[in-house]
Amino acid sequence: MVVHREACEVCGLDPVVGSARRPSRIVAQSEAMQTVLRRAAQFALASAPVMILGESGTGKEVVARALHGSGSRRDAPFVAVNVAALPAELLESELLGHARGAFTGAATAKVGLFEAAHGGTLFLDEIAEMPLPLQAKLLRVLQDGEVRRVGETRSFAVDARIVCATHRDLRDLVARGAFREDLYYRLNVLRLRVPSLRERPGDVIPLARRFLAEDGKPGVVFTGRAERALLRHPWPGNVRELANAVKHGVALAGEGPIDVAHLPEELTAEGTTVEVRSRKPVAQLRPLAEVERDYVMHAVEACGGSHVEAARALGIGRNTLWRKLRRYGQ
Ligand SMILES: Nc1ncnc2c1ncn2[C@@H]1O[C@H](COP(=O)(O)OP(=O)(O)OP(=O)(O)O)[C@@H](O)[C@H]1O
Ligand SMILES: [Mg+2]
Repeated sequence: MVVHREACEVCGLDPVVGSARRPSRIVAQSEAMQTVLRRAAQFALASAPVMILGESGTGKEVVARALHGSGSRRDAPFVAVNVAALPAELLESELLGHARGAFTGAATAKVGLFEAAHGGTLFLDEIAEMPLPLQAKLLRVLQDGEVRRVGETRSFAVDARIVCATHRDLRDLVARGAFREDLYYRLNVLRLRVPSLRERPGDVIPLARRFLAEDGKPGVVFTGRAERALLRHPWPGNVRELANAVKHGVALAGEGPIDVAHLPEELTAEGTTVEVRSRKPVAQLRPLAEVERDYVMHAVEACGGSHVEAARALGIGRNTLWRKLRRYGQ
C-alpha cells in the first residue's frame, strides 16, 4: 500500500521515515546499553507491542528506531507520533485519519498515521499523555486490527507494529484512573528499559565525542579536565542534556580544544571545592533569583516539560511552580 502524508499541521515535521535501514548512529559502549539493543533486536522478530520505559532524554526513540530497523518491517515506514504534542481532537484525526467534510476545515480526506505505518511500525511517544477517550479508541483498533477514519462508516484492516514510550510510571497512572488498565496490559507485552546516563557512565565520553564530531569543527577535542567534568556530572537530562552541553562547548571554544570553562555552569560548578568557591570574587556571585530561575528552568527541561514531575522533583507545589514560570515569562 502506497500512502502519502504531508507534514504535520502542528509541528511541520514529516512524521514518516521511509526506511530505517541506515548505518547505525547509536552509541552503545556500555554493557547496559548493549543489552538493551540485543533485546530490541530479539523483540524485532516478534509482532507483539513493545513498551519502552526510561527517563526523559535517555534515547527511547533511538531504541524504537533501532528495533524497527532490525526486524522484517525495516523497509516499511517508521511513523513517530508525540502524543503529548497534539491537542486531543487533532490527535484523533492524525492517528485515525478523517473523511472529507468530517469536521469544519476537513476539505479533503486524510490518511491517518495508523494507515501510514501499515506494514511498518507506529511509535507512540509519551503514551501516558493520551486522553482517556482516545485510549478507548486505540484499544479498539488494537483489538480489532481495524481502523475507521473519523467521519467514515467503513473500517479497514491495518497491520502496524505498536511501540510505545513513556518516562512516567504507568502503573501509578492506572492506579489513579488516568490510564486504562485494559490498554496498559495490551501495550505492556514486551518491555525495554533504557537506563539513565548515570547508570552507564561508560557511554558518556563516547557519546560526547560523537556529538562533537557531528557539531564541532574537525580536529576539535575535549581537554582532560573537560572530560573529567563530563564524567562527574549526574546528567539529570540524560543524553539530550549531554548533547546540549557539547553544543555549549562548541559555541564557546572557537577553534581550540573544549575546556571545562566552555561547558555549561552546572558542570563547572560541581568540581569546584568549597574552598575554591569561597574565594570567588564577590562580583562573580549571581543573584539568588537568577540562580533559582536557571535551576527551575533546568528542572522543567530535565523532566521533559512535565510541570507535575518538575514540581515533584523540586519539592514544591504545582501552583507554586506555575507562578514562578509565569513570573519568568514562560
Ligand atoms: N545511544 C545514543 N546514541 C546516539 N545518540 C543518542 C543516543 N541516545 C540518545 N541519543 C540522542 O539524544 C537525544 C534524545 O534521545 P531520544 O529523543 O531518543 O530520547 P527520549 O528518551 O525519547 O526522550 P523523551 O523522553 O524526552 O522523549 C536525541 O537527539 C538522540 O538522537
Ligand atoms: Mg522521546
